[in-house]
Amino acid sequence: MTISDAVVYAGVDDTSIDLFEGQYPVSQGVSYNSYVILDEKTAVMDTVDANYADKWLENIAHILDGREPDYLIVQHVEPDHSGSICKFIQRYPHAVLVGNQKTFPLIRQFFDLKFREEQMLVVKEGSFLPLGKHALQFLMAPLVHWPEVMITYEQSEQLLFSADAFGTFGALSTDPDWLPEARRYYINIVGKYGAQVLALLKKTVGLSIRMICPLHGPVLKENLSFYIDKYQTWGSYEPEEEGVTIAYASLHGNTRKAAKQFSDILRKKGEKNISLFDLNRDDMSAAVADAFRYDSLVLASVTYDASLFPAMEDFLYHLKIKNFQNRTVGYIQNGSWAPNAARFMKAHVSEMKNIIEVEPVVTIKSAATPANLDEMAKLADTVREKRTK
Ligand code: FEO
Repeated sequence: MTISDAVVYAGVDDTSIDLFEGQYPVSQGVSYNSYVILDEKTAVMDTVDANYADKWLENIAHILDGREPDYLIVQHVEPDHSGSICKFIQRYPHAVLVGNQKTFPLIRQFFDLKFREEQMLVVKEGSFLPLGKHALQFLMAPLVHWPEVMITYEQSEQLLFSADAFGTFGALSTDPDWLPEARRYYINIVGKYGAQVLALLKKTVGLSIRMICPLHGPVLKENLSFYIDKYQTWGSYEPEEEGVTIAYASLHGNTRKAAKQFSDILRKKGEKNISLFDLNRDDMSAAVADAFRYDSLVLASVTYDASLFPAMEDFLYHLKIKNFQNRTVGYIQNGSWAPNAARFMKAHVSEMKNIIEVEPVVTIKSAATPANLDEMAKLADTVREKRTK
């Protein structure tokens, strides 16, 4: 990946990983990005996952071509980026690690590392680090995505090293489609911290930015306002566009059939954007991401053990911890003798901010009847009338 003569990509692709952060499927892998800045002084921006330390060190040595790195900038200590710090220090004991006051305690917690005073440079908001023609300015970005995160602006080439922000799943070799995978990445990993994301965007408003260099996924070089606008929308918990996500949890297939019938009804009424997720089988992180993408959500669940079917319970838990809000929500419940899933779904939704709940709640007893289809048609109308966007 080309950036400039003086700024060279040094990261690695991980195509053997199955679950990112131990939970998110990444069938196209992920990249751990790292960059080397060559000037009178040399700086390495972040490391990579420990499994790729040797390959990364080879990349660094090749780029440095016999020079020693002067600085290792640690923007984020999560192990996908800091996992190779120990091997880096062993190889380059004279390099100085650059972090903020929250960086070094976290490094010590993760690794059995003792630093000499001269190996650490503690920076704070707005600190500059001159390298020659290049100079790095550090901006603190707490909770985007961990407390110690900072981003780095390089003035001479107008580069924003954005840490996890603007990253996406997908190894670079797979040429990932940025929007769906960046959305899934953002909502599931950073989604809880919208206020902190907006605060970070505010800090960057006055900066001239030519390229964004994140810690995952491609360097963003064109049409940067598109990406920044997406972050503004996601950080504000606003829907991206009109559309309905239908998430269903089915036991014997009748709730699935009802969810599909509801989807058909919506489409016949002119709804263009509809996502349908089987919460027992589909990727939960994709369902969560699409719930945030669209302005409306319809939950369809069977009743189970006088409560909610576990997959729906899990889905609503995910939405709550990611601060799901500002959406229209409707319900379809199923139960053969005591249907009450809607009561439990509503209890979860009542803990979310600014939700418009729409009627009717469709109640199916075992299998949808023609009367249920009429109710679904009414529900489709109210969803479309009362949508938030
Ligand atoms: Fe890519 Fe928060 O680590």
